[in-house]
Amino acid sequence: MSFDKVIIALDFSNEADALKIVDDLGELVNFYKVGLELFCSSGPSIIKKLKSLDKKVFLDLKLHDIPNTVQKAAKVCLKYDVDLLTIHTIGGKKMLEAVTTLKKETNKTKIIGVTILTSLNEDDLNELGINVSIPQIVKRLSFLAKDCNLDGVVASAQEVKFIKEICGKDFLVITPGIRPHNHSKNDQKRTVTADEAIAMGADFIVVGRAVTSSSTPKKALMSLFAPKDKNVHSAWNQQK
Ligand code: C5P
Repeated sequence: MSFDKVIIALDFSNEADALKIVDDLGELVNFYKVGLELFCSSGPSIIKKLKSLDKKVFLDLKLHDIPNTVQKAAKVCLKYDVDLLTIHTIGGKKMLEAVTTLKKETNKTKIIGVTILTSLNEDDLNELGINVSIPQIVKRLSFLAKDCNLDGVVASAQEVKFIKEICGKDFLVITPGIRPHNHSKNDQKRTVTADEAIAMGADFIVVGRAVTSSSTPKKALMSLFAPKDKNVHSAWNQQK
């Protein structure tokens, strides 16, 4: 059995700790997220190692800068042949198109737009002078991503339904902010449980600390899914 729609976030400062989790989880998990912390410490070396273990890689660098700078950074990232690469939709149309124009250079990497981080809620947006609701802005950014030829977005599972309605069912929605019932939210705000995310139609769920900070990661992963929903999970796993 494997959790093919679960992506584990390897938020570590060194390769050894990251690879230990990969080893602990074994065949249960085939997809790993390399984010800023690990990429800043290991660079492309961790991507090579994960690929040599036959794991899929989500390179979550959330690129955001002027179009020319992001395009050049994305061009380098595409050479790593990762499965997913993130850029911030808030960088705007020109920046998004500067990246998607590179899609002709890759058969593999899907370009995914980050909408509104799951660590933000409406109060945080108001503080930035953005006076719209989370659904309104996530809808708008998802539509922009689709219009600029991105392959999907990162959003909270709470937003999957309307993103799919606007952008179509094949437009990927990847959902972090997953927490077991009664688990601390840490710095996340728009959280749901793994079972809820599945029921809401997420294509992939991203799980970090709930699994990686456990001394028994396999057990922690299994326990994210309530026993009654194990069948739902395997049906969901087999969808794609
Ligand atoms: O530990 P936790 O499960 O909160 O980790 C979530 C992971 O998903 C982190 O690596 C974080 O960078 C990432 N992420 C997120 N919200 C987004 C995009 C990515 O939490 N909108």
